[in-house]
Amino acid sequence: MSTLRNLTMACALMAISLDPAIAQTAPSQPTAGTYEPKVGQEGKDVVWVPTPQALVDRMLAMAEVSKEDYLIDLGSGDGRTVITAATLGVRAHGIEYNPDMVALSKRNAQAAGVEDRATFIQADIFESDFSEASVITLFLLPDLNLRLRPTLLDMKPGTRVVSNSFHMGDWRPDDQIDAGSECENYCRAYKWVVPAKVAGEWRLGDDQLTLTQTYQMLSGTLVRNGTAHEISEARMDGTNITFTAAGMRYRGSVDGNTMTGAAENGDARWTAERQAD
Ligand SMILES: C[S@@+](CC[C@H](N)C(=O)[O-])C[C@H]1O[C@@H](n2cnc3c(N)ncnc32)[C@H](O)[C@@H]1O
Repeated sequence: MSTLRNLTMACALMAISLDPAIAQTAPSQPTAGTYEPKVGQEGKDVVWVPTPQALVDRMLAMAEVSKEDYLIDLGSGDGRTVITAATLGVRAHGIEYNPDMVALSKRNAQAAGVEDRATFIQADIFESDFSEASVITLFLLPDLNLRLRPTLLDMKPGTRVVSNSFHMGDWRPDDQIDAGSECENYCRAYKWVVPAKVAGEWRLGDDQLTLTQTYQMLSGTLVRNGTAHEISEARMDGTNITFTAAGMRYRGSVDGNTMTGAAENGDARWTAERQAD
């Protein structure tokens, strides 16, 4: 299975004129302090290809990282995303299966003077708890993204997930960014914001709001005075909700079983409470 995954990435690597044989070589042995990784070297579930630095910079900008964030890179390679985040003052952590790459990352963090904020662990991302992160970055493969998707969707609402090159199946991205004209390969990244879970019945004043949710997209009805109004332009952005119903544009934020906000073209603030099933 591992060979198959590595071959998959090796096929992609052919597009960057790399000898695909490199992608099938065994991992090199640790040689303290002198280890030099090779693009395309075997990894547990995917080979190592570094994200171009220009894209790392833009991925972090798209994620709008701040000093309040805790970033985790899943499959952190030589540590470049974690170290770049740390140089911006962000606490950041890399999970990487290859122990040589972990040691290299630690040396790179030290050389950059950010070893206090940039930490690394040798571990399998599929056996790791990364639920404390507020930003997840990854550069894996489409099927690995899909394996991670349920865990990502269960993270704290508002968590930003940024993937180099690969999608999340039918969970459509909220944003995307290109690395710019100097980047030649793997130059686009996508962002998703983990949506709060709002599907179900809500009491909004005297009205009944029924929401159906597919990832960040919402549909449903607002029943007012016995008349059902279909909601439109309805979506989540983390904990923020927007929808239009009965001629009013609603904006609010969700906190557990309560939503509060203001109607855009009315002056009334509104509150909704989740109804028990
Ligand atoms: C395509 S590289 C991306 C490296 C880095 N995130 C970047 O963007 O430059 C994927 C990395 O994931 C690592 N990896 C593969 N399977 C893994 C697993 N199950 N757990 C942790 N790391 C893994 C590989 O060793 C490799 O360094």
